[in-house]
Amino acid sequence: MAKMSPWEKFFVNRRGEGSFNRLISKMAYSGVVRIGNSSRVLELGGGKGTFSSLLYERYHPKIVFLTDYDQDQVNLARNYLVNKFGKIPDDLVLQQADASHLKYEDDSFDVVVARMILHHLGELKDIYSGLDEINRVLLPGGVFVYVEFAHKREIRKHLAELGFNVHFRKGLHSETVIAVKREQISVEAKTNKAI
Ligand SMILES: C[S@@+](CC[C@H](N)C(=O)[O-])C[C@H]1O[C@@H](n2cnc3c(N)ncnc32)[C@H](O)[C@@H]1O
Repeated sequence: MAKMSPWEKFFVNRRGEGSFNRLISKMAYSGVVRIGNSSRVLELGGGKGTFSSLLYERYHPKIVFLTDYDQDQVNLARNYLVNKFGKIPDDLVLQQADASHLKYEDDSFDVVVARMILHHLGELKDIYSGLDEINRVLLPGGVFVYVEFAHKREIRKHLAELGFNVHFRKGLHSETVIAVKREQISVEAKTNKAI
């Protein structure tokens, strides 16, 4: 995958808080995204950091990992957070991370968010690998929230095949998707059912 051009960065990084606040409202009204003070949140491709900082302010989760593949974007986010909060809060962790190869353990997060980044992962097979990674790091019952304009149907289908319940709202170009990872059925529960 290639880094964004300077022109793309200029365009993307000048976004204000409006679209992120609208996304947070959609999450809140969905009834399926529950972020509390014990939640662990991961943002992929977070760019300047606006979305993570708003989630942090609104919900005060246990921890937010704000990540991006491009170190320039991570540096930009660092400046943004320092300007906004005076310093980077201990429970808002800024890291360089490639969404296709996450270094987090299995079942690490309650919520993963990715706004306009899946198409950056490459061809469809690369996007599928990224979705498999997201599935791996999400806890059972966790939610994956994303906004995307490319390969919309294929991405939803892959998530459904992974066992997610997929809720989506079509927009003019992009769609907002809230995908809930199915809870695992324990062996004990299966056994009880069989009896
Ligand atoms: C279109 S911007 C979106 C930024 C932000 N999410 C927003 O909505 O404004 C895409 C972001 O994804 C990042 N990115 C590209 N490839 C990535 C990857 N493989 N892993 C993580 N981030 C990636 C880019 O550096 C960029 O910051």
